Amino acid sequence: MNNSQKRKIAMVLSSFNSKFDEGFDFFDSIQTVLVSGKKEYKASIIAKSQTELEYIFLVKKKFENLADALEDLIEDIIKYDSAVVSYIERGSATDVIIDDRNVKISKRKLNDEVTDTRMLRNKEYIINPSNAAPLLKALGYMTEDGKIRNDMIRKYNQTERFIELTQDMFEDIGGKGVNVVDCACGKSYLSFVLNYYLWEVRHVKAKFTGLDISEKVIEESKKTAEKLGYKNMEFIQADLREYESDFKPDTVISLHACDVATDMALGYAIRNGAKRIICVPCCHKELLDKYKKDDLNCIIKHGIFRARLNDILTDGIRVAKLEACGYEVSCIEYCSPLDTPKNLMIRAVKKSDGNREAQKQYDELLRTLKVLPSVEIYSMLGNSEY
Ligand SMILES: C[S@@+](CC[C@H](N)C(=O)[O-])C[C@H]1O[C@@H](n2cnc3c(N)ncnc32)[C@H](O)[C@@H]1O
Repeated sequence: MNNSQKRKIAMVLSSFNSKFDEGFDFFDSIQTVLVSGKKEYKASIIAKSQTELEYIFLVKKKFENLADALEDLIEDIIKYDSAVVSYIERGSATDVIIDDRNVKISKRKLNDEVTDTRMLRNKEYIINPSNAAPLLKALGYMTEDGKIRNDMIRKYNQTERFIELTQDMFEDIGGKGVNVVDCACGKSYLSFVLNYYLWEVRHVKAKFTGLDISEKVIEESKKTAEKLGYKNMEFIQADLREYESDFKPDTVISLHACDVATDMALGYAIRNGAKRIICVPCCHKELLDKYKKDDLNCIIKHGIFRARLNDILTDGIRVAKLEACGYEVSCIEYCSPLDTPKNLMIRAVKKSDGNREAQKQYDELLRTLKVLPSVEIYSMLGNSEY
């Protein structure tokens, strides 16, 4: 290749440096095809961390920064007739096509696969099965040959619905991105899907921390992240009763955290002043034998009424607490009650440090019902004494 191309190539490839520095969590590798006559040779740059890189072409060379590795790559490129250098990151690739005359840059999506979607709702999916095939396969929603599993269609539709209902909450994210904590994450399906949505669909940077008391699900979540190459996720085995993070979460999510683990998640979010909270509560046992309302005795003497009222009061108290703490709250039906009766979604966005009127109503509510609910306990700093 003409040596005069060297400056042009260096200029175009230098854009990879900032991409790498700012978006390392999404970096996969730089793959190059070098062409000489009819023969093709492959070279690649991979990275364990931002300061541990390897350039592999005939031999392996180690580098401490990408700029130096690219310099070596450019020296090799100009020895060939033409080359395609691809910066691969999660979900997309930037190709630089180089020959004697031109250095052209183009972007393409990765992972486009034809998928059988006959069993799905007749609509345009946000987590599109064609584009999101690697994610859906890793989560077990999709078979290796690209079909959504019959027994996972419901779950898939639920996660899609979750994104549909919450996407407007992420409209205002700036360049810094978002920091999401999934409390009682289980196998972290929701985090994986939200992570995919934020980066691949919205192109918003995000960090995820999944917390769960079970070592087993934390290990499984780590394996899934590794399989997908999602470097922006960490999973920590932790008891929400005593967990404190050394960073401020701006978004807290919690889906079906058992019983009062939902209150622990809300408490963690409230204590840290999280900007967004998305919570789908699970079973509610705690108030069942505690709340007192003598004038309702003729109704709640029937077990089923007592249980149903308990569900409403538990979630109602949670929402009243959030409003007292300055959140604007909306409660919606998350999915069909036939899918799961635990289908209430609480969406909360922080608007102020507190709302006096809402606080008065909340205090009055607790007095009337004669309860000290878990959401109150876990919202207090230093709650470990409880
Ligand atoms: C029904 S699963 C839901 C998992 C996941 N969010 C989902 O929707 O697939 C409830 C999870 O809460 C976790 N959990 C219960 N108590 C907890 C606590 N005190 N601290 C952390 N995790 C807890 C359990 O280990 C379990 O993984």
